[in-house]
Parts: sequence; C-alpha cells; structure tokens
Amino acid sequence: MLLNKTSNAKRRQLVVGNWKMNGNQQLNAELLAKVVAGWQGEHRADVVVCPPSPYLLHTFERISGSSIQLGAQNVSQYEVGAYTGEVSAQMLAELHCKFVIIGHNERRRLQGETDEQVAQKFIAAQRANLIPILCVGESSAQRENGSHLDVIGAQLQSVCAHVGCDVFKQAVVAYEPVWAVGTGKTATPQQAEEVHCFIRAQLGEIGETVRILYGGSVKSSNAEQLFALPDIDGALLGGASLDAEEFLKICKAAD
Ligand code: 13P
Repeated sequence: MLLNKTSNAKRRQLVVGNWKMNGNQQLNAELLAKVVAGWQGEHRADVVVCPPSPYLLHTFERISGSSIQLGAQNVSQYEVGAYTGEVSAQMLAELHCKFVIIGHNERRRLQGETDEQVAQKFIAAQRANLIPILCVGESSAQRENGSHLDVIGAQLQSVCAHVGCDVFKQAVVAYEPVWAVGTGKTATPQQAEEVHCFIRAQLGEIGETVRILYGGSVKSSNAEQLFALPDIDGALLGGASLDAEEFLKICKAAD
C-alpha cells in the first residue's frame, strides 16, 4: 500500500519483470500460473512481464484474461531486412507486446550498444506503437567520481537530440545503476530520489508525467521504502521477477 504519494498521484505505478535469459517452457508456465492467480481483478498498479523472445507468445497465452501485460527485452533498430538474429518492433507488436526494454546496461556493456543505437531502437519501438522502457544508469566508477548525473543526462539527451524530448510522453524511463544490478546492493532512497528528480528536470514539462522506475536489486524487503518516494513510480525487476511470491509482494507494494 502506498504512502506519501500525493505529488505523483497522476502517474500509475508500474512493475516490470525482466526475466533476462532465464526459464524454460515448464518453469515459465509454473511461474505465470502463480503470478496470474495472485494478480486477479482490478489494480491501481500496472504489471508487465518481459520473457525471452522465444517465449513471448507462450507467455501471452498464459497472461491473457488477466491485467498483466507483455513486454520484450530488446528490439532491432531496423524495420526489416538482412539482419540475422534480430527481431523487429513490428514483429514484437504482432506477438502482442505493449512494452520493450531499450538500452539495458547488459546490452550496452556486453553487446556494445551505443547511445545512438539505443536512440534508434527507441524510435523503432514507438513507430510500431510499443512503449519503450529506456534504461539509464551509471557505473560504479562514474558514481564514485561524481559524474553519474552527466552520464544519465547524456543517455537521455541522445534520444532527445534525435527526435526531441516529446517522445517521452509515450515512454517509461528506468534508472538502473549498473553497480546495483544483480549485486544485492540497492541505491539508497536518497540516491535514487536524486536521480529520478534529475531525470524529471531534464525532460521539462513531460518530466511531470513520465513514469520513472527504479531497478537494481529490488526485493520485497526494500520495495515499499523505494515506492514511498515521490519520484519513484515503480520498479524494473530482474531476479525478483523469477520468484512468483517475491514478484507478487512487490507488485502489491506498488498497488
Ligand atoms: P536485479 O533486480 O536482478 O538486480 O536486476 C535488475 C535489472 O537489471 C532489471 O532490468
């Protein structure tokens, strides 16, 4: 249950489960059966699950009839053509995706995605009417040398520079400090709130309405404290989204 959320009453809370490259058909079916059973009826918070692409349809079939929505973890910047192994935004839309995660730090770091590519993916997603969840965040070295806001500002500006900041009207931003992802270290409420406020300020008027999620070792034990902050509108979960009980506790904390 939310407390002290008067300043963001106009923003619906959102919890997104990024399964990353985990699961298989049987485990997914078991997880989704529990999540769907635990998330019946009407809710004030939105819930999205992002399975690996081969399981999108399988996941859609299991969540249909519930209010849980479908998202993908990545998208090609291209619309069509000779791009072996890539999946287009239109294909994701055909598979009933509503959201797509863009610029996750694992893709920036491990697949070498640049700010420019991330901006192109963002545009490709919106062209297919998908809602991009743009991930931004600093490394531990950048946090230690105090450049974290510059880094995050540049990640946002790379999108604004291509298409203007207005595109954030139909987007979600996720602040995921790299040092907090999968490490068990969570940003303190003060650290998260500072960055979320900064992101809003960067986006001007749209900053008032854009949903900004926090991601990085969110668990049921710290979710409520994070969600109580005025500028945090929900969470992007990794590990916690693979455990139905834990996932549902966090969704309920946002509800
Ligand atoms: P963890 O919740 O496992 O730290 O992962 C966060 C994340 O990367 C979600 O996209």
